[in-house]
Amino acid sequence: MTRVFNFSAGPAALPEPVLRLAAEEMLDWHGSGMSVMEMSHRGKEFIAIHAEAEALLRELLAIPANYKVLFLQGGAIGQNAIVPMNLLRGKTRADYVDTGDWSKKSIKEAGHYCTVNVAASGKGSNFTAIPKQDAWRLDPDAAYVHICSNETIGGVEYHWTPDTGSVPLVADMSSNILSRPIDVSRYGLIYAGAQKNIGPAGLTIVIVRDDLIGQALPITPTAFDYAQQAANDSMLNTPPTYAIYIAGLVFRWIKDQGGLAAIEAHNRRKAAILYDFVDSSDFYTSPIAREDRSLMNVPFKLRDESLDAAFLKGAEARAMKQLKGHRSVGGMRASIYNAMPIEGVEALVAYMKEFEASNG
Ligand SMILES: Cc1ncc(COP(=O)(O)O)c(C=O)c1O
Repeated sequence: MTRVFNFSAGPAALPEPVLRLAAEEMLDWHGSGMSVMEMSHRGKEFIAIHAEAEALLRELLAIPANYKVLFLQGGAIGQNAIVPMNLLRGKTRADYVDTGDWSKKSIKEAGHYCTVNVAASGKGSNFTAIPKQDAWRLDPDAAYVHICSNETIGGVEYHWTPDTGSVPLVADMSSNILSRPIDVSRYGLIYAGAQKNIGPAGLTIVIVRDDLIGQALPITPTAFDYAQQAANDSMLNTPPTYAIYIAGLVFRWIKDQGGLAAIEAHNRRKAAILYDFVDSSDFYTSPIAREDRSLMNVPFKLRDESLDAAFLKGAEARAMKQLKGHRSVGGMRASIYNAMPIEGVEALVAYMKEFEASNG
């Protein structure tokens, strides 16, 4: 068996010990005689799996008691509609900060439900930087302020938490949740699709302050009404049971690594190896402002684009997969989420040096 270094932006690499344990437990989970996939979500076994996953997530992120944790379906794109449906609370306007492709999708979808004020935009820098907060034009009567904390395609990340006063801050953290400690109390709501740092696609996590729920628009589907899901422990409909089980194993793995502070240190080391090399080279470039560079998704370009195909072919031959940049930006992108070992980044940089030496 050969495992590759998988630089996919998502679904992405999972920690190998998690996959091994899941394989061991596949046919018979803890003497139950069943796979987790075959269990009733109302049975005592799955209820224990679900409760443990939630408890571990609460512990890792130090989620305060007045926040609900929901395990839902529908993905982060689903949340682009579900957030305004639930959080407008009688208001008609919401602020959005546009930092790239994923913010734009959120803005477009929210426009079906409310008047969107684009409070700041990265357009002036061609989305290579996060607009500084002093340039934001926030609406004091907005229902909430929405950001994308890490733009998976463009590669910009907030390394600070915006101050939105009494207006709740909402963050799409799909691609950087659990990559470092955060202060959850600074947010009204956090959502994330699971398929990067959490587990398999199909699970969407929502962390929401409890005073913000209970006033969903009447058109809100019951399965996407946060208050109804919270009242039913996310089991109003059948939850994505297997994805929740794997997420629980990933949470335990993060805890075993030393928790989020240790994970952050590891992520910083990995990103530094790659960015330092790109910055030292005339052959490769990174367009992103240094202070806003993502630790999770590292886009880079070869100065001579005609070499892109040869670069990717050589990477594949060395078992490094999914390095092609998103079609909207071109070039390369190395996604180096929590599960990417340091050896994967070292192997990539060694290959980049070798490729430069033979093509530079
Ligand atoms: C930041 C961000 N938001 C939203 C999405 C869309 O998530 P989903 O495909 O789970 O709806 C993605 C990609 O997976 C993403 O990277």
